[in-house]
Amino acid sequence: MIQLAILGSTGSIGTQTLDIVRLFPDKFKVRAFSAHSNVELLIEQALEFDPECVVIGKESHYGRLKEALSHTEINVLVGAEGMKVAATLDSVDTVVAAVVGFAGLESVIAGIKANKVIALANKETLVAAGSLVNDLLAEHNGTLLPVDSEHSAIFQCLVGEPEDSIEKLILTASGGPFRARPANTFSSITRQEALNHPNWSMGAKITIDSATLMNKGLELIEARWMFDIPSDRIDVLVHPQSIIHSMVLFNDGSTKAQLGVPDMKVPIQYALSYPDRWEAPHPRLDWSSIAHLDFEPPDLEKFPCLRLAYAALEQGGVSPAVLNAANEAAVDLFLRDIVRYVDIPIIVEDALGRFGGPLHPTLHDIVEAHQTVIGYVQELYRVRAN
Ligand SMILES: NC(=O)c1ccc[n+]([C@@H]2O[C@H](COP(=O)([O-])OP(=O)(O)OC[C@H]3O[C@@H](n4cnc5c(N)ncnc54)[C@H](OP(=O)(O)O)[C@@H]3O)[C@@H](O)[C@H]2O)c1
Repeated sequence: MIQLAILGSTGSIGTQTLDIVRLFPDKFKVRAFSAHSNVELLIEQALEFDPECVVIGKESHYGRLKEALSHTEINVLVGAEGMKVAATLDSVDTVVAAVVGFAGLESVIAGIKANKVIALANKETLVAAGSLVNDLLAEHNGTLLPVDSEHSAIFQCLVGEPEDSIEKLILTASGGPFRARPANTFSSITRQEALNHPNWSMGAKITIDSATLMNKGLELIEARWMFDIPSDRIDVLVHPQSIIHSMVLFNDGSTKAQLGVPDMKVPIQYALSYPDRWEAPHPRLDWSSIAHLDFEPPDLEKFPCLRLAYAALEQGGVSPAVLNAANEAAVDLFLRDIVRYVDIPIIVEDALGRFGGPLHPTLHDIVEAHQTVIGYVQELYRVRAN
């Protein structure tokens, strides 16, 4: 039996992970859940799965959670410290890291230090602290398995292949909802339009990141650390149908790709079943209905966030953490109608040019850079927000 802690259990990845758990009740026991503010769903999950502990991020919901679970043995915890406890429980062997944003980082680090297997959806962890996480994985002989569909695709292509045979990774991108929209109309893009992804149903932040192509930039940095490969050997290719989830070009000229219906349950399940595959009723591709697969290079003029991600990786040090923090702050402002879609790359580029730090940052340096950038961007727009 796999003993799980699901951090971010109320989100898109968290709830789909629970669908996998329900599909294979004999294979899993969920020991811990965490949510930020969706206390009612967290209560439902706790009552259905009877974990050892639950964690609520927002302290103001603690009373409601505690009262709803008062007739159970479930331990009720709060905040970032609570998430670390959940990630390091003796009974847990695999942590599903499905929190959105930088808030997921410290619990992943705690899990690695406690020798847990990490099934990683929270790409911001590797974006902000990739080098540090890799050092910790090496030190603890740890295992980190991808949940992101592109990284799962690459991981699946690499099974059985010699490490030194990779020539290039090719990350595919849907191009988002504005791929074909003229750039001169971008200043009028609304939140509703940006939240309408053509192929995937996901949480709000990653949906906006997909609309700016920052999501592909974050995935580029995630791939750089996950597969330990320099960015000049990672290409991005726009593939609007999202059927090829990514590819690997090998040094003998052969290319492998992983294909499937766009459905996150498949990569979530693979991260949990690896190295096995479990028979499951997820939708199959119907080849007779696929007339063609299209490809085009990404337009870095129209979508500057992807260019900025390559630049941050090139700059190194805390720059990817700065990129990530500025993007988190900018997306939050966009979702609250305080800045426009076109302001997101402007905010990120400004922060990247303004904030630096040591070339080999510690966790303290990274947390400090994150908080400084978030504070800076929030202060810039404070007047407009009030
Ligand atoms: N969704 C996808 O298809 C997909 C695909 C690939 C990768 N990912 C990655 O997976 C991660 C999760 O994405 P998602 O789409 O599942 O996000 P989501 O639907 O927004 O869910 C995020 C989860 O994190 C919790 N959370 C939010 N802010 C938090 C905070 N400050 N502290 C602690 N917990 C917090 C949320 O709790 P509440 O519900 O209580 O707010 C929720 O459980 C992201 O890093 C994303 O890039 C997602």
